[in-house]
Amino acid sequence: MIKASMSLTLSMFLVLFLFVSLATCDTSLDNFLQCLPSHSHPSYPVSRAVYRRSNSSFEPTFRAYAKASRFLTSATPKPLAIIAAMHESHVQATVICAKSNGLQIRIRSGGHDYEGLSYVSNVPFVILDMFNLRSIDIDIVRKTAWIQSGATIGELYYNIAKKSNVFAFPAGVCFTLGAGGHISGGGYGNMMRKYGLSIDNIVDAKLVDVNGKILDRKSMGEDLFWAIRGSGGASFGVILSWKINLVQVPPKVTTFNVAKTLKEGATDLVYRWQEVASKLDQELFIRASPQVVNGGSGGSKTISVSFIGQFLGPSSKLLPLMKRRFPELGLQQKDCNEMSWVESTLYWFGRSGRSLDVLLDRPTETSFFKRKSDYVKNVIPKEGLENIWKMMIKVEPVWMQWNPYGGRMDEIPATATPFPHRAGNLFKIQYSTDWSDQEGSEATNRHINLLRQMYEAMTPYVSKDPREAFLNYRDIDIGSNPSNQTNFENAKVYGSKLFKDNFMRLVKVKSKVDPDNFFKNEQSIPLGMA
Ligand SMILES: Cc1cc2nc3c(=O)[nH]c(=O)nc-3n(C[C@H](O)[C@H](O)[C@H](O)COP(=O)(O)OP(=O)(O)OC[C@H]3O[C@@H](n4cnc5c(N)ncnc54)[C@H](O)[C@@H]3O)c2cc1C
Ligand SMILES: *[C@@H]1O[C@H](CO)[C@@H](O)[C@H](O)[C@H]1NC(C)=O
Ligand SMILES: *[C@@H]1O[C@H](CO)[C@@H](O)[C@H](O)[C@H]1NC(C)=O
Repeated sequence: MIKASMSLTLSMFLVLFLFVSLATCDTSLDNFLQCLPSHSHPSYPVSRAVYRRSNSSFEPTFRAYAKASRFLTSATPKPLAIIAAMHESHVQATVICAKSNGLQIRIRSGGHDYEGLSYVSNVPFVILDMFNLRSIDIDIVRKTAWIQSGATIGELYYNIAKKSNVFAFPAGVCFTLGAGGHISGGGYGNMMRKYGLSIDNIVDAKLVDVNGKILDRKSMGEDLFWAIRGSGGASFGVILSWKINLVQVPPKVTTFNVAKTLKEGATDLVYRWQEVASKLDQELFIRASPQVVNGGSGGSKTISVSFIGQFLGPSSKLLPLMKRRFPELGLQQKDCNEMSWVESTLYWFGRSGRSLDVLLDRPTETSFFKRKSDYVKNVIPKEGLENIWKMMIKVEPVWMQWNPYGGRMDEIPATATPFPHRAGNLFKIQYSTDWSDQEGSEATNRHINLLRQMYEAMTPYVSKDPREAFLNYRDIDIGSNPSNQTNFENAKVYGSKLFKDNFMRLVKVKSKVDPDNFFKNEQSIPLGMA
């Protein structure tokens, strides 16, 4: 009896507590929304950019730029509102009013964050959505462009190609990546060995700081401009747009995809690939992608490794080069496809032969996935490779992409940007697993555990002290803070893996430009210790 009444009191207390905290949210939301117009440009009514939960477009707008099904369940906390800025002043207003009303914001451009950090938080928050701010302004004479955060890289590729077939921009493979998150997190793609990352080709930026001021490179200063190129923008402000340098490409590039199974000598080939891939001409990028397939002896599983390549030039130049430097792969004319650079972006994204218009698509599909990353600095011995294949078969379905470094990546100092993974890296690994909700409620945990087992088994072969990781392959397992606070010691754990010695410089910049830590998330840059 006593027990029952106690639990009754407790649940009444909980209801009351929930009611009070919801009411608090409601008033801060109302105050926030009432604050917006006075900081917005009068010709662009901010009311048209606001989606409250009661609005029938709230849910579709929330989902339109949320790529990970794992964070789209009914249990996932939703934002109190979405502000889909239609003018730069709406961004300023959102920052000013969220700050003055104690609301957290999540900034979203393309919504590809692997851990959903741009649209999920465990504390009351609003999403500042950038998808309406998507202009791209190309100056082909000066070989530069301004691109707003809400533009996709597919749109960028499309617009460059409309103006010229000998210019390009080094960025990722997936067309729908948002310029805001993708570039601020580094921006890696298959021209990396020739031109570095996206961040290595940024010459100016516009950002809204914690006071709601719009800054450019000159007014933000070199420290902040350094910080936003590779540390993710979300710790420092809201990136409105980037000024990029276009890079030169030949009218014809060559792509190929040659797959070998273990029976066909994949282990020896991968061993050799490790020795040469990071030393080849900068024009040549060859990814090795191991996966589990059927076809082992007696109907068992085996490994097939795809060597997917891109050469900035014609096959007549590529073939002799391969014969000289990597004859073991046995590349032949029939393996080679020549195309313009923009067509190669379709090739890499599995859209060969489609109209260039697919670069402009903004599909809303989502999927269940988990990704992790590693860096390799020493050639993995053949017994090591054999252990890796065995483990892959054990934890199936897990596959990997091994992306070669070297070339331009070796020339750029590790301190030039916050991105520290430069000279000395042979390749970067991305680990992947996907699943579907048809596989039952246990599928999520099961797959995440499989990927973690694979990662664990790779320990002897990858970087250590710290075990490095790539920010754009967001992985909450490498350390995190709760949504509502940033503890320096926690942050040092993930910060040293992502930024190595650049971490402390980032902390210094952060402490200067956002001393109250308004811009935060589970893996943001912390303030320095007092
Ligand atoms: C299918 C797929 C393919 C991918 N391929 C590649 C690849 O080839 N190369 C590569 O490097 N990466 C790749 N990635 C990873 C991708 O680069 C990152 O997920 C990147 O953060 C996506 O940027 P976004 O704007 O789309 O994401 P969002 O989820 O919108 O943002 C990611 C992070 O950046 C912050 N952010 C977003 N916009 C702004 C802004 N305007 N100002 C400040 N902070 C902002 C967010 O708050 C969040 O922390 C891929 C991801 C997916 C899902
Ligand atoms: C939903 O919000 C949008 C954007 O502010 C607005 O244009 C629209 O009228 C709203 N719809 C409803 C049903 O309130
Ligand atoms: C953060 O949230 C947790 C859980 O809601 C709470 O216990 C903790 O006190 C909060 N911390 C701060 C600094 O607000």
